[in-house]
Amino acid sequence: MKVNATFCLLALAFLGEQTANALSSEMRDAIKMVVKYPPHIDVKPGSFIVELDGEPARFSIGKQYHLLFSGFSVNADENFDPALLASLPGVKRVWPVKLRTMPAEPSTANITYPNLGFTGKGVKIGIIDSGVDFNHPELGNCWKTPGCMWQYGADFVGDNYDSRDSHAIINPLPRPMDCMGHGTHVAGIIAAQGPKVTGVAPDATMGMYRVFSCPKNGHNPSSDDVILSAVEAAYKDGHDILSLSLGGGGWPEDPLAVACSNLVKKGVIVVAANGNEGTSGLFTAGSPALGRGVISVGSVDNWNNTGSAISITTKSSVKSIMSSTPGNEEIPFFFDKETQLVAVNDESDSDLGCTNTTQSLSGKIALIKRGVCTFDKKAANAQAAGAVGVIIYNNVEGMLSPSVTDPTINIPVVIIAEADGNEGTQRDIITVESTTGGQMSPFSSFGPSPELDIAPLVSGPGGNIYSTFPLKLGGYTSLSGTSMATPYITGTIALFKQAHPEYTVGQIRRALITSAKPRVSKATGYNIHPYKSGGGLVNIYDAITARAHFFPPVLSINDTTDGLPNGDTRNFMQLGMRWAQSSVTIKNLDANKSARIALTNAASESLSSWFANGTFSAVPRTAPESFDPVPNPSIFTQVFAPQLLGSNLLAPGEQRELEVFIVSPFGLKEEDRFFYGGYLNFTLTWDGEDDSPKTYTVPYAGFNGNYRKQDVLSDPKEELPILTDDEGNPVSELNNFGVSGSKPLIANFRLELPTRMISLTLLDPENKTLGFLPEGYGEYVPRNQQGPSSFISYSIINGTVFEDKEATQPVQVPPGNYRVRLQALRPFGDPGKQTDFQIWDSPIFSVS
Ligand SMILES: *[C@@H]1O[C@H](CO)[C@@H](O)[C@H](O)[C@H]1NC(C)=O
Ligand SMILES: *[C@@H]1O[C@H](CO)[C@@H](O)[C@H](O)[C@H]1NC(C)=O
Ligand SMILES: *[C@@H]1O[C@H](CO)[C@@H](O)[C@H](O)[C@H]1NC(C)=O
Ligand SMILES: *[C@@H]1O[C@H](CO)[C@@H](O)[C@H](O)[C@H]1NC(C)=O
Ligand SMILES: *[C@@H]1O[C@H](CO)[C@@H](O)[C@H](O)[C@H]1NC(C)=O
Ligand SMILES: *[C@@H]1O[C@H](CO)[C@@H](O)[C@H](O)[C@H]1NC(C)=O
Ligand SMILES: *[C@@H]1O[C@H](CO)[C@@H](O)[C@H](O)[C@H]1NC(C)=O
Ligand SMILES: *[C@@H]1O[C@H](CO)[C@@H](O)[C@H](O)[C@H]1NC(C)=O
Ligand SMILES: *[C@@H]1O[C@H](CO)[C@@H](O)[C@H](O)[C@H]1NC(C)=O
Repeated sequence: MKVNATFCLLALAFLGEQTANALSSEMRDAIKMVVKYPPHIDVKPGSFIVELDGEPARFSIGKQYHLLFSGFSVNADENFDPALLASLPGVKRVWPVKLRTMPAEPSTANITYPNLGFTGKGVKIGIIDSGVDFNHPELGNCWKTPGCMWQYGADFVGDNYDSRDSHAIINPLPRPMDCMGHGTHVAGIIAAQGPKVTGVAPDATMGMYRVFSCPKNGHNPSSDDVILSAVEAAYKDGHDILSLSLGGGGWPEDPLAVACSNLVKKGVIVVAANGNEGTSGLFTAGSPALGRGVISVGSVDNWNNTGSAISITTKSSVKSIMSSTPGNEEIPFFFDKETQLVAVNDESDSDLGCTNTTQSLSGKIALIKRGVCTFDKKAANAQAAGAVGVIIYNNVEGMLSPSVTDPTINIPVVIIAEADGNEGTQRDIITVESTTGGQMSPFSSFGPSPELDIAPLVSGPGGNIYSTFPLKLGGYTSLSGTSMATPYITGTIALFKQAHPEYTVGQIRRALITSAKPRVSKATGYNIHPYKSGGGLVNIYDAITARAHFFPPVLSINDTTDGLPNGDTRNFMQLGMRWAQSSVTIKNLDANKSARIALTNAASESLSSWFANGTFSAVPRTAPESFDPVPNPSIFTQVFAPQLLGSNLLAPGEQRELEVFIVSPFGLKEEDRFFYGGYLNFTLTWDGEDDSPKTYTVPYAGFNGNYRKQDVLSDPKEELPILTDDEGNPVSELNNFGVSGSKPLIANFRLELPTRMISLTLLDPENKTLGFLPEGYGEYVPRNQQGPSSFISYSIINGTVFEDKEATQPVQVPPGNYRVRLQALRPFGDPGKQTDFQIWDSPIFSVS
């Protein structure tokens, strides 16, 4: 009996396993094959990047990558079936070629440190960008001549590369001259040589790898296949640091992120912009910033804004406002007759001007709200509608200069502060003090990564940075973006590298993060969450002179646990607390003096993407201040390092691992889905130095609950998912859809967390799968954002389904009754496990 029963259980367990495996091998094959992005991610038609198993190896198809990424790119016509590539032996994945933009929105930060005398001399820095105006007097006025700052680099695109075109012409020029300005601005922040702009590391040896071509119609995205080649070329040139002010939709598995991770493994410091999508909320960090070991950079607003200005007479006073690049010398914001100002209304029924305007702007000045799309795009749309000038008003506090870089824009563009958006001429370069100096820039993207890693890791000045610009475009301008913060951090690392050439990439990253200064919200007085600012604003003086090292330098925590630690005698835990255990190793670098350690907790605001009623909030809800009326002190984290109660002394040169308990905010409910965070403040006092203790901070962040269980689809209160007609109207009569001539049915849904895999399949009433809906399969999918084109995802139900994920094998479904099944993988889920998916089944409808 007993034996039988055991056998029976074993058999059941085995069968269960079998079923799971059968499912998983089918799905695993799919994962192995061709990655498909959701439709709102821009890709280069007919181009793919093939990722191979194992260490980087040699292959000979298309563009080959064998240094940092194992694989090759393939260019074919748009009907090419990428599944053919997936069937090649040794192929790991086939990736669509993602398009990349430069996270620049539209002054040199005058941040002064005690001068240690480092200038970046002897340090080699590679930049992947739009090229550089190397004829600029402050950027060497030379190219690869002896003694020239520019010793490396090449053009990878030419002037006419349009990555959106599958037959794009790549016609590299002999030298990477910049035609749009971004790269020249970035280069100046690192290494401009004065007198007007002095870069952070003016004596560094530089390389420029041009991957962005000249803009057309407000666009000039580059693409991963080109960028990968440039990154490999930069690696061959042996740079110490590679700086990438570019990015987009973020997963650490992206080919570009993988190449950058491999670059880090090979000992190169990689610095990358975290992205400019902060106003879309959490999970907006991009790749390659999310590559493992890559230093992802957030942006802090400058204290002073410098730029070309114009004066505007308002009802009460005369105000100076920043003007854009074309709005300066060549195209003044000057109208000799009275010109009407009109607020635009665009096809998306908004005042953002991101789509064509619905009214004629002929002879008028367009007033457009900032946000959603680039200044270039807004200006191009207004110009197309006949506008003679554009005023963009800010949608947040503070001022910034609009970056209009598209040379086809020949009308002046200016920006005014939000306060003036509801209400003459003379030009000058002025510096005005910013009301937001030292604060995180609102545009700076939030982490975490889809796998809850903290991003950005550090922040640098990126809001309103005055730097060099191509001579043809005026020579100097102010721009804002994590694109500007990135070269700033690159420059500071060059100083570090000069000071400590023997330090490893990991050591430099640790010193940088743990000596950065957390940001405090001016509005609330609380620390800013590490998902917004990382370790905080870099302080390179403290990093170079650091006398203790901490690793890991950030604690990315997944879940919190209930109950008491096993067999625990520690008396700080109370029943009902959720907590996480971690550890930090501290090394006293001083060979002669012991140090006393004190730990304090600098808790930050907690963040949630959800309102209290469970619906989505793009601007993260913060605790404690959103808790009325009196903030409860228990809704902050608490930290404990029990070992310090035993001994807090670190002998000279000693390295010690400390167990750390982080108790999540007691007053925050699990269903509110808050991400808590803060900084472990380790204050070290060395022997005989009682008057000058040093504080190092280790940022930590995690989820207040069990993250794996979280839904990725929007709350049902938002009335999604839903079946609608093709105009978005909900349908109540679910009959007669999908034959030619009648209207298709649309399955609409919204992702509030990134998901590794999503599918929409058509099922018959017995729940047998007939195939994938058009656009019904996606992998490495970012969460839906606030933009008009990315707010919602959808799939068409029109009688055609596809047998395969690549949608090459269409099947016409016979008339009958059906339902749609939407499956989205939950965080950290296994694509082979059905139970790891969140599933929504539609009501039954009929296709006739
Ligand atoms: C900003 O500019 C003002 C006036 O030029 C100057 O006094 C101040 O030191 C500057 N602040 C910073 C942080 O550079
Ligand atoms: C930065 O400092 C330089 C030299 O002190 C000064 O000329 C320049 O105006 C300052 N720029 C800003 C933005 O404050
Ligand atoms: C928007 O306007 C441009 C230029 O007038 C035109 O080429 C384009 O087709 C328009 N787009 C739409 C969606 O109407
Ligand atoms: C978080 O979970 C993922 C997936 O299980 C795991 O790879 C990672 O190591 C975890 N991180 C921590 C800090 O526990
Ligand atoms: C620290 O100790 C080292 C080796 O014991 C010695 O060479 C050095 O002079 C000492 N430094 C100081 C500042 O005492
Ligand atoms: C933590 O350290 C930071 C940076 O040194 C400091 O500004 C802050 O006041 C400290 N907070 C606490 C609670 O110790
Ligand atoms: C949820 O709360 C937000 C913020 O208070 C509100 O805007 C929204 O309408 C609410 N949604 C529902 C479905 O109650
Ligand atoms: C099919 O799935 C639906 C919804 O998940 C369920 O209610 C129904 O019982 C299933 N039908 C069969 C025949 O399994
Ligand atoms: C349904 O839509 C897909 C995607 O647009 C298309 O490929 C297919 O031909 C359509 N089928 C019918 C019957 O209209």
